[in-house]
Amino acid sequence: MVTLKSKRNEIKKILIDCDVGVDDALALILAFHSPEMEVRAMTGVNGNVPLGAVFTNIQKVLSLIRPKNRPLIARGADRPLKGDTIHAHSVHGSDGLGGAKIEVKQGKVWWEEYSGPADELILELAYQFPNELALIAVGPLTNLALALRKDPAGMKKLKELVIMGGAVRTRGNATPYAEFNVYSDPLASQIVFESGIPITLVPLDATHQVFLTPGCMEERVKPIGNAFSQFVIEATGYDTGAHRFRNRDNIFLHDPLAIGAVIDPTLLKTERLSLQVETQEGEYYGKVTENNDGPKIDVGLGVDAERFLEIFLSRLS
Ligand code: BDR
Ligand code: CA
Repeated sequence: MVTLKSKRNEIKKILIDCDVGVDDALALILAFHSPEMEVRAMTGVNGNVPLGAVFTNIQKVLSLIRPKNRPLIARGADRPLKGDTIHAHSVHGSDGLGGAKIEVKQGKVWWEEYSGPADELILELAYQFPNELALIAVGPLTNLALALRKDPAGMKKLKELVIMGGAVRTRGNATPYAEFNVYSDPLASQIVFESGIPITLVPLDATHQVFLTPGCMEERVKPIGNAFSQFVIEATGYDTGAHRFRNRDNIFLHDPLAIGAVIDPTLLKTERLSLQVETQEGEYYGKVTENNDGPKIDVGLGVDAERFLEIFLSRLS
């Protein structure tokens, strides 16, 4: 495996905030299989499925990965700061993992449950590792906004924030204008975007360029023949007899690309932009627009898709 770190002491400390979710699960597998990073903790947020299912799915995916370092896990927000909860069962299935047959085995625990809520864990680790901790957020940004409201100075101790979310110069996927993570909690997104923390945004503009095709499943995923490739087949609903996905043509690797952006920041082609989120209900709710004011953030508008896909696939085995 090609390791993208030059010195051993450059292994990045990571916290992943997620709403597991099929592509969140693929992101977790990629992160734990990447020697460039050490995942210290995971926090769950309402999103693709309700919070209870998100938390179960974090445990299921950790039972598959079996990390030796027993990361901390914490429950976060069960609803957005403002507005109704929405879920994406049509994409991720009723359980959020496409019905994949993975279970939490009794008796062996691969994580440590944190006693407080997600926003407290985020702040605690930010203080414990000042200017060292990278937070990768691949769900609605509610937990991050709660932490920012509680202690903005504490959140400034984060080294960086990498966020999957938004549709900047392209169509949305929740509405014609809005991407799911931002649409699920536009107010939280606005609070995070204007926080002044160094942010890299990984929007649909980039993630719609990275996807699994039936050809890729046949030629690269199936031959791996391990528990991870089997999970990819089951969770994505790939029909090995019919050689196609049951519900769609391709599977977008939205959340794994946010992990990729930390493994190797040169994968993304970024522009520095100020962004604003529409928080008023109506047609444009959750739409991200470019703006002249406010802190600038690095926005991934392009990606070296081939190189990313190679990293993702090679780390399934
Ligand atoms: C994002 O929304 C969720 O459904 C995915 O997990 C991803 O985080 C893509 O818009
Ligand atoms: Ca997600």
